Amino acid sequence: MLLSSYAAELKQKAQQGQLRRCKTVETIPIDVGGPQVRVDGRLAVNFSSNDYLGLSHHPRLQAAAIAAVQQYGTGSAASRLICGTNPLVVELETELARFKKAEAALVFNSGYQANVAILQAILGPQDWVFCDRLNHASLMDGCLLSKARWSRYRHLDLGHLEEKLAKAPPQARKWIVTDSVFSMDGDFPDLKGLVALAERYQALVMVDEAHATGLYGATGSGLCQQFGVSERVALQMGTFSKALGGSGAYVAGSRVLIDWLINHARGFIYSTAQSPPVIGAALAAVKLVQSDFTQRERLWQNMATLQRAVVAAGLTHRISVPLQSPIVPVLIGESVDTLRVSDALLAAGYFVQAIRPPTVPPKTGRLRIALSASHTEAQILGLVKALAPLLVG
Ligand SMILES: Cc1ncc(COP(=O)(O)O)c(C=O)c1O
Repeated sequence: MLLSSYAAELKQKAQQGQLRRCKTVETIPIDVGGPQVRVDGRLAVNFSSNDYLGLSHHPRLQAAAIAAVQQYGTGSAASRLICGTNPLVVELETELARFKKAEAALVFNSGYQANVAILQAILGPQDWVFCDRLNHASLMDGCLLSKARWSRYRHLDLGHLEEKLAKAPPQARKWIVTDSVFSMDGDFPDLKGLVALAERYQALVMVDEAHATGLYGATGSGLCQQFGVSERVALQMGTFSKALGGSGAYVAGSRVLIDWLINHARGFIYSTAQSPPVIGAALAAVKLVQSDFTQRERLWQNMATLQRAVVAAGLTHRISVPLQSPIVPVLIGESVDTLRVSDALLAAGYFVQAIRPPTVPPKTGRLRIALSASHTEAQILGLVKALAPLLVG
């Protein structure tokens, strides 16, 4: 009886095609034939994973995780301010600072936790924060919790951002916060223009490189590196959970900001430090992407294959080309239709997640194709062949 209001709302969500359900997905080892999974028992090619470089199965990462467990155990016992910092974490943060051309870095348990903790720590009610309207939910939540004056500009629209910056009091502390590669759209802002604008209005910049770390820039540091603005961005945040094949997150910036976070970021202060195998794998991944470009080149070849197939199948009204990242949205519209196409693809042997509101704006339901270096050409061509008839009309 006391739960009936929850049950009624869930039922309504189901009727609108918006009910979310965790499917059981078993990963099949990559060397058995590209990234395959068993979804609720059905074998399918995985086009839903953010493991863009296929590093989650890389022998170097696995060996590093096993070595870390053997040396330091499976858990880290307490938060770092209580029980101290494992030497592997010190090594990882030193490596990250170098990787990101920053003075210092700090590791968090997840990207969500990092963004909420960072924004809550650096912003107060007297500050102003400017966000791209499609920023990740964790950035939105951090801004909300901070109680700062929060203003959202149109997606990637620097003109709109400038209008908003011009309205803020010149003496106020201002932050501009943006994703680099947007997680549900696969596009990215002109970071050079954004940083120049920030400097003109004396605003600080935080960039979330969750989907760019390991993929862009001369050494895979991310889009800040690709745009040549690493040293002009106050905080470069990113995750180990996507192209780096592990889990957890980092932020890199000036010594003073990292010290501020150690003292104010509640998600850092009040949470048990990451476990040794997670840190061991992250360290191996950060080193690997700087020295071995094989997987990255394969991923870009796969993007070219997908793009050619999309053009040949006449699907450019649903899939924007040129592709800008391994995240390729296929715009459908209504949630029920998006689910229908996703289910049909699964029945054909392709696991492509349906993304629906509130993750994306109303009536912009989409399939989110996530490409990996591990996909074979046949798998990519097979996906487009299965998708084309489902997009007619
Ligand atoms: C842009 C962005 N930031 C942060 C996160 C959160 O990272 P994590 O999954 O490590 O919590 C995600 C996705 O998960 C993301 O897409």
